[in-house]
Amino acid sequence: MNDILKSAHSGWRYVVFLLLIIAVVKALSGWFGNKPYTEGNRKLNVFTLISAHIQLLLGLGVYFLNGWYKIDSSIAMGRYWKMEHISMMLIAIILITVGNAKSKKVADAVAKHRTISIFFGLALIIVIVAILLMTKADPSRTFFGVS
Ligand code: HEM
Repeated sequence: MNDILKSAHSGWRYVVFLLLIIAVVKALSGWFGNKPYTEGNRKLNVFTLISAHIQLLLGLGVYFLNGWYKIDSSIAMGRYWKMEHISMMLIAIILITVGNAKSKKVADAVAKHRTISIFFGLALIIVIVAILLMTKADPSRTFFGVS
């Protein structure tokens, strides 16, 4: 069970990553190109949100079932897995959640695209930085790899 959750969390990152990149690119082109906010845009943003929430649930499962909360945080690798990964990823997921909710509240199409660009864009940067930090703190992990 632990191994299944771990592999699922490891592999699901690509789904989150891909959806987030497509959502940001589409939102930026909608914002700067003054485009209408289509049903396709709305669905893409909701799927991105759902994928991030699934990753959160898988991450929580791995974190508690594999006892990562008990690891010694006096070494960089322990600090990364005990605190840094979870906090950075939580901030990214909160940004995606808030961005999607805010985009629903504004009426103007360009304002919707702008909101998604900013919130999802920041989340994407945080996720990339968190994975880069992971490869530094824990050299057994790679940016592109599934364990
Ligand atoms: C967008 C959100 C997230 C992304 C993209 C992400 C990505 C990753 C990646 C790439 C790994 C390394 C997997 C490997 O080496 O094959 C990992 C491991 C891990 N993640 Fe996340 N993560 C996210 C959110 C979370 C959250 C919210 C938590 C905790 C609540 C979490 C807990 C963990 C733990 C404990 C591991 C270590 C798994 C193990 O090797 O046993 N992750 N995550």
